[in-house]
Amino acid sequence: PERLILDCDPGHDDMAAILLALRHPRLRPEAVTTVAGNAPLEKTTRNALRILRAVGSDVPVHAGAARPLVRDPVDALSFHGESGLDTVGEGLPSTETGPDPEGAAETLLRRASGAPGELTLVVTGPMTNVALALRLRPGLAQQLKRIVFMGGSAGPGNVTAAAEFNIWADAEAARIVLESGVPLVMMGLHLTHQVRLTRRHVERVRRGRSPIAGALADLLSFYLQTTARHFGEEEIGAPLHDPCAVAFVAAPELFELEPMEVRVETRGEQTYGMTVCDGRRMPADRESRRPNVQVAMRVDAEAVLEMVVRALGG
Ligand code: BDR
Ligand code: CA
Repeated sequence: PERLILDCDPGHDDMAAILLALRHPRLRPEAVTTVAGNAPLEKTTRNALRILRAVGSDVPVHAGAARPLVRDPVDALSFHGESGLDTVGEGLPSTETGPDPEGAAETLLRRASGAPGELTLVVTGPMTNVALALRLRPGLAQQLKRIVFMGGSAGPGNVTAAAEFNIWADAEAARIVLESGVPLVMMGLHLTHQVRLTRRHVERVRRGRSPIAGALADLLSFYLQTTARHFGEEEIGAPLHDPCAVAFVAAPELFELEPMEVRVETRGEQTYGMTVCDGRRMPADRESRRPNVQVAMRVDAEAVLEMVVRALGG
């Protein structure tokens, strides 16, 4: 199995990513690290703990950065609700356990140096923890097998016309990570918008065999509703962004990648947080380009959805 660490900010789609990582037979999650993003750090950490403990997992949770490196903190509570993981009905049971005393950057560094070339880091939130770890020890870039991240876009953004939320929430951190030399695989909005969770999937989860089927279905219903309210796209469903990154580690054959030079805009007035993806096909320019990211362009969306619904018990 693939050994991985999941760095996340749950968040509804992060929740699905966590459960996919736990349930897929080809994956071995060793730790979950949390970051401020969809919600402030205390909430994303509590949500991660609630998800894991509700399904009986003892994978350790390490809390990371409470603030971005440079910019002012932002959140997506208007999307994921006050708790960062709101529900239409029954929520997840609460848990008394707190996070592990070791911080996120510290655990990344310790675990990566203990297993050089073995660990995949999956990032489904802002990249603050990863950037901090790279600043503490740049050699981390050579110790990780790769980073698979949900973030950015080769087309339009979501939080602004140009920027996707995870990159926009800490563009300076994303820039450090994308320039670090670590092998990178990107799941941008142009890809994750192909993978749509619908009411039909949610009903399968509700009728499924998970001991918390009702709670999971209610959480996903909230996510469907909030997406419909923001984008008016109820019929075509809600994009399952974060599970795409985990699904890639489990089943890379479902994805088509293109190597590209991807740079993060940190100074643009209109474009802060944009991922500028050089997808030009003119051969004359090839020489000067330095592809630093494998950008996922196409996916077998049905297969990914099936994988996620099964991981949720459906
Ligand atoms: C990303 O932003 C967050 O709200 C989601 O959890 C996902 O990681 C999508 O832009
Ligand atoms: Ca996320």
